[in-house]
Amino acid sequence: MPGRYAIANWKMNVPPEGIDTYLRALASHRNGRASVVVAPPFLYLKDVVAQAPANVAVGGQNCADQRAGALTGEVSPTMLRECGARFVIIGHSERRSLFGETDAVVARKLALAIESGLTPILCIGEDQRVRDAGEAAILVSNQIRSAAVPALESARELIVAYEPVWAIGTGRNATGAMVAEMISEIRSALSRFWPSRHSKTPILYGGSVTPDNIADLGSNGRIDGYLVGGASLDSAKFLTIANGLMSLQ
Ligand code: PGA
Repeated sequence: MPGRYAIANWKMNVPPEGIDTYLRALASHRNGRASVVVAPPFLYLKDVVAQAPANVAVGGQNCADQRAGALTGEVSPTMLRECGARFVIIGHSERRSLFGETDAVVARKLALAIESGLTPILCIGEDQRVRDAGEAAILVSNQIRSAAVPALESARELIVAYEPVWAIGTGRNATGAMVAEMISEIRSALSRFWPSRHSKTPILYGGSVTPDNIADLGSNGRIDGYLVGGASLDSAKFLTIANGLMSLQ
């Protein structure tokens, strides 16, 4: 069975309650079946690694698609690993749409992250136009196909996050039924492109997840966890979401 994850993506924010208070609060998470990961901005990564309780792992929000070199402002996957990160978010829709990351860039980042010993959290998902055109399943399948790099065969783990772009930061989450349908499309794409690992790959949902909608989102029994943006900035809300994973079938 795939692992379960609650992943906090702080984006370019820090929790208003302060990093140390936030991390102390997460120490009370007692769900043996679900792992908690916090992805802070790069600058705070070492602080979070130093202060995180033993049950909380740390991830980067992005990484470079090159090992080293004259790339002003970039951070390599190896550097992330050396600073104590174990995970890295790759291909988040904000990176794709605001910073021009193509599927080819995402594939290079994925391969390097795996080579550096990080567990990649690969984000995929359709925008409103693609959904309206009835092409969401084709799009996620294509995103998975272009991320099927040879390095995956040596990866210890890969996490996929289904994040419909129209649901991110908008307060309009997908329904449990919609998510269930897309997750089965994603599983079937995984079985075609990564046959050796499709049944072990956790598939998370992200997009306006809050304590109020996890009952519906999780009701279909197919979600392996959540990638949480806005609501992850409040430790109480994030803990409620993480603890909610316990009741998933
Ligand atoms: P949101 O962000 O929860 O604020 O919608 C999710 C994400 O971007 O990963």
